[in-house]
Amino acid sequence: MSPARRINLPNDCPYKRGDEIQFQFEGGSIEGYRHEPLAIALLAAGVRVFGRSIKYHRPRGATCLQAHCSGCLMRVDGVPNVRTCDTPCRSGQVVERQIGWPGSGRDLFRLMDWIYGQRLDHHGMFTSSGTLNRMAMRFVRKMAGFGDPPTADIPRINLLERGEAEVVVIGAGTAGLAASMALAEAGHPVILFEHGDKIGGRLLGRACRIPTDDDRKRSGWEVRQEIKSRFEKLHGIELHQCTPVVAVYPGPDGPCVVASNDRETISIDARRLIVTCGAWDQVPLFEDNDLPGIFTLRGLDRLVCGWGVVPAEPILVAGESDEALQLALQLSLASVELAGVLTERREGELVDVLSKAGVDLIHGHRILRARGGRWLDRVELATASSTEPDLVLDCGMLAVEAPESPAYELAHHAGCRVEFRSASGYVVVTDENGRTSDVRVFAAGHCAGARDTAEAMAQGVRAGLACASKLEGTWRRPSSATAKT
Ligand code: FES
Repeated sequence: MSPARRINLPNDCPYKRGDEIQFQFEGGSIEGYRHEPLAIALLAAGVRVFGRSIKYHRPRGATCLQAHCSGCLMRVDGVPNVRTCDTPCRSGQVVERQIGWPGSGRDLFRLMDWIYGQRLDHHGMFTSSGTLNRMAMRFVRKMAGFGDPPTADIPRINLLERGEAEVVVIGAGTAGLAASMALAEAGHPVILFEHGDKIGGRLLGRACRIPTDDDRKRSGWEVRQEIKSRFEKLHGIELHQCTPVVAVYPGPDGPCVVASNDRETISIDARRLIVTCGAWDQVPLFEDNDLPGIFTLRGLDRLVCGWGVVPAEPILVAGESDEALQLALQLSLASVELAGVLTERREGELVDVLSKAGVDLIHGHRILRARGGRWLDRVELATASSTEPDLVLDCGMLAVEAPESPAYELAHHAGCRVEFRSASGYVVVTDENGRTSDVRVFAAGHCAGARDTAEAMAQGVRAGLACASKLEGTWRRPSSATAKT
């Protein structure tokens, strides 16, 4: 397996490295770039194990790189459980892993996994004697948990901004941008909350392609740049980046939306709400699918094509979608070594291009198990009917695709009806114009069942227009800082 390296970023890449900085990691100094997330800088520096699982102390690493898997939690400047994939590097930061003894890198508690790998029920341990049980519980409490309490002064977020809005849109991905822009163009002001520091959602992916009317496909980066330019010229959209919405409460006059960032908590009484929260990446089930070195498709796209960091090679890409094949192609064009592409796709333009590029296409197999100590070093494949591997691939990383899970939660908070679909999980129920079971709440994009980025965008436009047509009465400006607690 090759060591970590950085590759050059193309000029049109939406991820930009700032000046070089240095931060502290467990007694050493690591180089990163301003704006670059800590997790990316750590992976570029060869750090592979980011933490340990809470009970069996299995190694944990970054998996999604979009702040929802918890594999990258570390202690930063004395504060535990910081998502390092969502925290930019700053000069002088002190970063530490937080679970394990004597440390996360080499953790003796890992023995628990080997001894009790099948099952460890600590509730039933040492119950024959009260004294023994109390001693065992003290030990269990010491070895479990997510780090120690903070030693730093955690800034109190004590500024509560209250306001009102005609429309709040949650999520500045493709559907959220489309809905906000449709509303703004119809003359309705919008407050738009985005949890990340960039707008565009899936358009930020190197592998994203948007079909055009003349049967071509345009790159997500190109489409994003166009939308961004149009967005910046529009008036009436108040964008709050790095401000996740943490709750939505149904109210008598409309939903109350609560968002929070590191400076303030914002509470907005909205007449209308459009939820476009997207979907969560998943990793499919196979043995040892939690090993560091295994990434979701979009996570690996962000890591290698977005930030230009290749922690290990060769890479195996597994998936059936155009996005999976396009990611493999982009990696190959960037001269990143591939172990192959595991897919059932046997024909089509992307298959032809990959074959011509000399990429191995592996058919008729599934992933049986991942292998490695503290980082992936090989993947065992088997045919569909077999439980024994018949192909073992040496690989440094695995980018794997699984059905996404719609992010229905905030629409559910708002009281909207959701339904379970066996292929994907819960999804917000809407009509073709994004209307939910609550007349004041709309939903669009992947949280409402969109199957691809183009469909999410179209749903966003329709929800924005439907919402605009419902609005009536006089718009009241959001009040500024009306209350402090
Ligand atoms: S939460 Fe950071 S990698 Fe998933």
